[in-house]
Amino acid sequence: MRIAVLVSGNGSNLQALIDAQHDKQLSGQIVGVLSNKADAYALRRAEDANIATAVISHQNFPNRESFDVAMHQQLLAWQVDLVILAGFMRILTPNFVSQWQGKMLNIHPSLLPFYKGMNTHQRVLNTGDRLHGCTVHFVTAELDAGQSIAQSVIQVSLQDTAESLAQRVHQLEHFIYPQVAQWLCNGQLTWENGQAYFNQKLLEKPIQFAQF
Ligand code: GRF
Repeated sequence: MRIAVLVSGNGSNLQALIDAQHDKQLSGQIVGVLSNKADAYALRRAEDANIATAVISHQNFPNRESFDVAMHQQLLAWQVDLVILAGFMRILTPNFVSQWQGKMLNIHPSLLPFYKGMNTHQRVLNTGDRLHGCTVHFVTAELDAGQSIAQSVIQVSLQDTAESLAQRVHQLEHFIYPQVAQWLCNGQLTWENGQAYFNQKLLEKPIQFAQF
């Protein structure tokens, strides 16, 4: 599997994927890292790992459609099989998403379907939830609404702040994201007719990783 990772920022999840590939926990090959921001630290991580990079700034395009077409062309040039969104902060157009159906993953810092969108950690604290975590899901046109594949849960403590939650959830992310990517690479996870299958069985609810 030839993998492209789309980033906008720090890229700690990208690093986890690079490390997993290096440690042979990920059998796919990350062939390119695409950022919409030239100053994303994730690009440095890719360069340090000798991975091709591309910067396609959304600001250079008149609309989302033309930006997505440019991204799509880059992915085709890299001959990508699997697209992994790792802190990529742009909303994708339905046309782009439909071309990567069942081949594009995202990780979101909440227990979806709760807390789609931004500022998830603060919103969890505001509500007083006792459980929080992250979700890996297939990407569909609706934001953070594609079928969830795997989740990992933490207990929120009274001492937690948005920062501490972000840190704790990141740790979970770095564990589950390479694992789910590997399931797609080795064929344990598949997508047929708009449905996820795990070990050839319909995936009815997200796979739960052990609590930290
Ligand atoms: C992660 O929290 C991820 O869940 C969200 O964006 C953040 C990216 O962090 N989609 P990083 O750039 O991988 O460190």
